[in-house]
Amino acid sequence: MLWSELRDLKDEIDYGTPPRAGPVVTLTIDGQSVSVPQGSSVMFAAAQARQSIPKLCATDTLEAWGSCRLCLVEIEGRSGFPASCTTIVSEGMAVRTQSEKLQQLRKGVLELYLSDFPAEDVEGGWSEFHEALAQCGVTSHPYDAIETHLDSDVDASNPYFLFDPAKCIVCNRCVRACEEIQGTFALTVQGRGFDSKIAAGMDEPFFESECVSCGACVQTCPTQALVEKSLFEGEYSRG
Ligand code: SF4
Ligand code: FES
Repeated sequence: MLWSELRDLKDEIDYGTPPRAGPVVTLTIDGQSVSVPQGSSVMFAAAQARQSIPKLCATDTLEAWGSCRLCLVEIEGRSGFPASCTTIVSEGMAVRTQSEKLQQLRKGVLELYLSDFPAEDVEGGWSEFHEALAQCGVTSHPYDAIETHLDSDVDASNPYFLFDPAKCIVCNRCVRACEEIQGTFALTVQGRGFDSKIAAGMDEPFFESECVSCGACVQTCPTQALVEKSLFEGEYSRG
């Protein structure tokens, strides 16, 4: 069963951030007027207006985190490019979700992720990451990456799912799902910058940690770094 079903979100659209209730605020998204409850994110309002903003760390079953920087938008009267998942709507706000500059910025973000993602899993792969690549027209990257996570060991200790750190973009969705959906707190992000990584328990194999195998992390992972073993025949291998 999908988490969206468990959470009674029957709509197939992922609104990016959870729904809010309360007085309504009206704004424009790419010139189109849309009204959403106060406290909603710009990303949520854009989804209501059926303007899809690329995203990786956001999903409507979890509170926004704002780490991947893919969902940038332009807001009239504001400088810079705020993340739409963590920016809250206000009355009369005018948002642009598409422009050449935004396209360029999003492409740059995805190219960086792609430079540290197993090349053999890019073509034909299916995940939200692959969808975002397609949405932004990214098929290759210009980097000659000196350091990558591509030789990291796969944790296949859990009988139902495995964790392939080479595909992890440290978006924190699994950590938030573990906390917010399951209330287990089995996962954390350890380290900083390039060295940051997802750790189960006290940095131990998933099956030896407090993980209760609920599958919330697997369900929410946008890259299939956490993935059900049943999807693979025999031994897991990249590509
Ligand atoms: S394992 Fe998946 S959900 Fe967790 S941080 Fe990595 S990419 Fe995100
Ligand atoms: S989706 Fe908004 S920062 Fe990641």
